[in-house]
Parts: sequence; structure tokens; C-alpha cells
Amino acid sequence: MKNVAAIIKHFKLDDVKKALTDAGIQGMTIVEVKGFGRQKGHFRINGEADKEEVIFLPKIKIEVAVPDEKVEEVVNIIIKSAKTGEIGDGKIFVYNMQNIVRIRTGEKNEEAIK
Ligand SMILES: Nc1ncnc2c1ncn2[C@@H]1O[C@H](COP(=O)(O)OP(=O)(O)OP(=O)(O)O)[C@@H](O)[C@H]1O
Ligand SMILES: [Mg+2]
Repeated sequence: MKNVAAIIKHFKLDDVKKALTDAGIQGMTIVEVKGFGRQKGHFRINGEADKEEVIFLPKIKIEVAVPDEKVEEVVNIIIKSAKTGEIGDGKIFVYNMQNIVRIRTGEKNEEAIK
């Protein structure tokens, strides 16, 4: 199992949510975060970014726990639904996930995310 964590633009959240639920994803967590990438929070590609102050921009982080065989599909869905082609579209981080438990039933791991 893997945790797929995607940092995306706010206005793409509904598109990403719909694309993932349409693909059968049964749950996700979102959180409002702040961050910066290689433009240091500025809205353009060129310029003297090195000399400028770094600015944290608001973003949304989506986290989805998925079985290994679904990771590639989920990553591709997020790319397709979150991409504008402009800078700041975000990034996807995939982590190994050790244990999952559904509290109500005690089901574990892949059974807990079906
Ligand atoms: N190396 C990183 N580590 C952790 N979070 C990151 C990293 N790079 C980007 N992020 C997160 O992703 C958000 C969006 O990053 P962004 O899409 O601007 O990345 P980028 O590498 O600058 O790519 P682009 O050139 O397309 O803008 C950042 O605001 C930050 O929250
Ligand atoms: Mg950037």
C-alpha cells in the first residue's frame, strides 16, 4: 500500500475529487497547506528569483491510501485532472504505507480501504 499525497491548486480540487471518485477511490483526506516550489512562490518563470523573498502560497494537499496496483492509475488521474500547464500545478509524493485499520470493524490494510 502507498500513500499518494498530491499538492494541487485550490481551484482544481473539485476536478481531482470527481476524477478520483469516478475511478472508485473510496476515501481521501484534504488539508489546506502553504508551500513554495522552484519559483519561490512567485508567479513567473524567469527573472531574478534568487534575489527575491520566498513566499508561501496556499495550496491543497490531497492524501489517498491506495493498494500498490492502483498507484500508477491514481497518479495519472491526478496529473490529468490537476494539470493546467502553468507553473505551480503542484507535485505528487508517494510514500510507503505500513498499516491501515478501519476503526469500526478492525479490518486491516487493503481490506480497510475497499
Ligand atoms: N521539493 C518540495 N518539497 C516539498 N513540497 C514541495 C516541493 N516542491 C513543491 N512543493 C509543494 O508543491 C507546491 C507546488 O509546487 P510547484 O508546482 O510550484 O513546483 P515546482 O517544482 O516549482 O514546479 P513548476 O515549475 O511547475 O512550478 C508548493 O507550493 C509546495 O507546497
Ligand atoms: Mg513552481
